Amino acid sequence: MSDPIAYERDGDVAVLTINNPPVNALSQAVRQGLMTRMDQAEGDAGVKAVVIVGEGRAFIAGADITEFGKPPMEPSLPDVIDRIEASPLIVVAAMHGVSLGGGLEVALGCHYRIAVPSARIGLPEVHLGLIPGAGGTQRLPRVAGVQAAIDMATTGRHVKADEAHKMGAIDVVQDGDPTELGIAYAQKLLDDGAARRPVSEMPAPEGIDWDATYDAVLARGRGQIAPAKAVRAVQASVEKPFAEGLLAERDIFIELMNTDQRKGMIHAFFSEHAVSNLPELKGVDPRAVDHIGVIGGGTMGAGIATAALLSGLQVTMLEMSSEAGEAARGRIGGNLAGALKRGKISQAQHDAIMDKALQVSTDYAALSDVDLVIEAVFEDMAVKKQVFTKLDDVCKQGAILASNTSYLDVNEIAACTKRPEDVIGLHFFSPAHVMKLLEVVVPDKTAIDVVATGFALGKRLNKISVRAGVCDGFIGNRILSTYRQAADQMVMQGASPYDIDAALEAFGFAMGPFAVADLAGLDIGWAVRKRKRAEGTMPDGATYADKMCEAGNFGQKTGKGYYDYAAGAKARVPNPDVMPLIEEDRAGTPQRTFTADDIVRYYMAAMVNESAKVVGEGIARRPLDVDMTLLFGYGFPRYRGGPLKWADIVGLDDLLGDIKSYAETNPEFWAPAPLLEQLVAEGKTFDSLNS
Ligand code: 3HC
Ligand code: NAI
Repeated sequence: MSDPIAYERDGDVAVLTINNPPVNALSQAVRQGLMTRMDQAEGDAGVKAVVIVGEGRAFIAGADITEFGKPPMEPSLPDVIDRIEASPLIVVAAMHGVSLGGGLEVALGCHYRIAVPSARIGLPEVHLGLIPGAGGTQRLPRVAGVQAAIDMATTGRHVKADEAHKMGAIDVVQDGDPTELGIAYAQKLLDDGAARRPVSEMPAPEGIDWDATYDAVLARGRGQIAPAKAVRAVQASVEKPFAEGLLAERDIFIELMNTDQRKGMIHAFFSEHAVSNLPELKGVDPRAVDHIGVIGGGTMGAGIATAALLSGLQVTMLEMSSEAGEAARGRIGGNLAGALKRGKISQAQHDAIMDKALQVSTDYAALSDVDLVIEAVFEDMAVKKQVFTKLDDVCKQGAILASNTSYLDVNEIAACTKRPEDVIGLHFFSPAHVMKLLEVVVPDKTAIDVVATGFALGKRLNKISVRAGVCDGFIGNRILSTYRQAADQMVMQGASPYDIDAALEAFGFAMGPFAVADLAGLDIGWAVRKRKRAEGTMPDGATYADKMCEAGNFGQKTGKGYYDYAAGAKARVPNPDVMPLIEEDRAGTPQRTFTADDIVRYYMAAMVNESAKVVGEGIARRPLDVDMTLLFGYGFPRYRGGPLKWADIVGLDDLLGDIKSYAETNPEFWAPAPLLEQLVAEGKTFDSLNS
């Protein structure tokens, strides 16, 4: 491998250029190279200052994450940074792109920092279940204060150069070539007779109410421990001498490195990258998409159109009547007004989108020129077929016809056109301009470049795209429907919806299943049940859930559902009318008690078992596809990595044991997934199927 650190001289200044594509991660070779090149600079007669700069798109994106979980390799990053800081020469960091985690820590180990205006800094270790481990929590408070350090170390947010300058983390912000800026700045420091300025020698900042801050950060983390631990590390910067603070930080870093949360978060990091990286799409050119059509401007269509417009696409929206068209335009306008308010677009961009990029029509002829069309009409096969037949007639040759259906058979939809190779499912999640997940549902006859276009569109819309096969509910809704049934089974066997929500929220879900049902609206399921009873596909007789709806309790939208929302959504309290109705339905079902642990095991066993079936049947390519679907579409806690990563961590043997014990009373629902049985028999993990 070529030397990752280039050494050049410019007068009195030595320039160390890190070249470790794509993001200059601090691999062992880079760490060793920095040590060697610092020695070289110090031994190079006449050199008075050193500039450290990154080649390519970033200064340094941090420690090399691929080395985590492996035996440590010398030199360690803290030793490298101490070496840099202790240099008798003046050391300048010249920053561009990102300086993240260990990258920012290297910069803070330098005596001065200059950055271009587009540079960003951050301590994103919490997103990997860690805290900074090479002095970030000790040096940043000394230059930027405790509040700024806590904010950055607990949220992991990226801070732009200007803000970093104001907080004191960057000395100079200037436009130009980073290397030239660094050399000129180093030369100026030498000309001015500036002294070395090690951050470790700066006084410790003032303290704050540590316990209150710790408690607040812990509560915000919904069970994630790293952010709260970061508070304790910053506390050490104030309360201990520098060297001891550094050791305290290191101890916490190592403790976190050995946690399941770190494993879950790093699995999520790599899976997020791998999920849309499908071997069959390598070298396949997607079709060009500049102009899309959206059929139906209700909840989903308006959200999809908003996402597309915000990504610079032209959108033609088709509705059933001019009134419905105006309502759709209103919904999109509301979404864009929100984007304007949050500073995501300027007033000029907003106006250009509303006046030019968005067209609303009731005439299919308006779609003759679109490159891709996404249907988001009612969830009814007959209506969808009518729409696709018309699209097949009017859309140009090569245009892609996509459906946003949640459950329906996309093969059947494709078969009603003369171009099944151009038909695909693009399943967005509500609200579509906010939610990150996109299921790219691939029917049997779809052409490979159409699949590639689905993924390219997902990328353009800033989504996490997951490939799914055709089945009832695809990956996400199919698994959801199973674990939702498990929650209902627990209610019938003796757990209250409130115990279930509390246990699952403590597990890390953003909301428990009954709180989610209240948010989505209980009337949707009620309508489905009424329709099924009318069709004769469901037994007659109102359940407790029907009785709740009959009483007008549809959830948040009516102020009452499982919960009473009189004091606001966040101050929900159980609706006292619900438990008596549940108790009526429980008659005849054997009752048992459920601890919070029992609830989590039951619910997760259902989720994992169905997930294993989804992978085993090839609906999801790999376990990581299921993990990313649940993480980005269903509020699964990121720090647990996803249901199948979680399953690997708790042990597949135990899980299969649970499933078999539940199967004793309900063998059909709890039939073990063949893939799960196979992995247990072979002593393998789900992760073994990811590579
Ligand atoms: N180590 C190893 N590989 C890394 C990496 C890192 N720190 N950061 C990014 N990569 C890899 C990615 O996996 C990806 O690989 P792939 O092409 O094979 O999929 C490639 O670099 C490009 O990354 P992205 O596709 O994410 O590129 P973007 O331009 O969208 O984003 C980024 C770049 C903002 C740097 C983003 O990758 C990122 O946020 N990376 C993580 C940064 C991070 O968490 N740093 C802290 C590390 S922990 C640490 O430093 C501990 C220290 O305190 C001791
Ligand atoms: P919706 O009822 O809010 O909107 C449907 C819209 O389609 C209405 O505005 C209606 O006027 C229009 N429409 C109906 N028939 C039409 C036709 N023939 N031509 C033109 N416009 C027509 O429904 P929603 O919730 O937006 O769902 C749409 C689709 O998206 C469904 O297939 C649904 O399963 C799916 N979906 C829904 C999600 C949700 O959370 N609501 C999530 C993901 C997918």
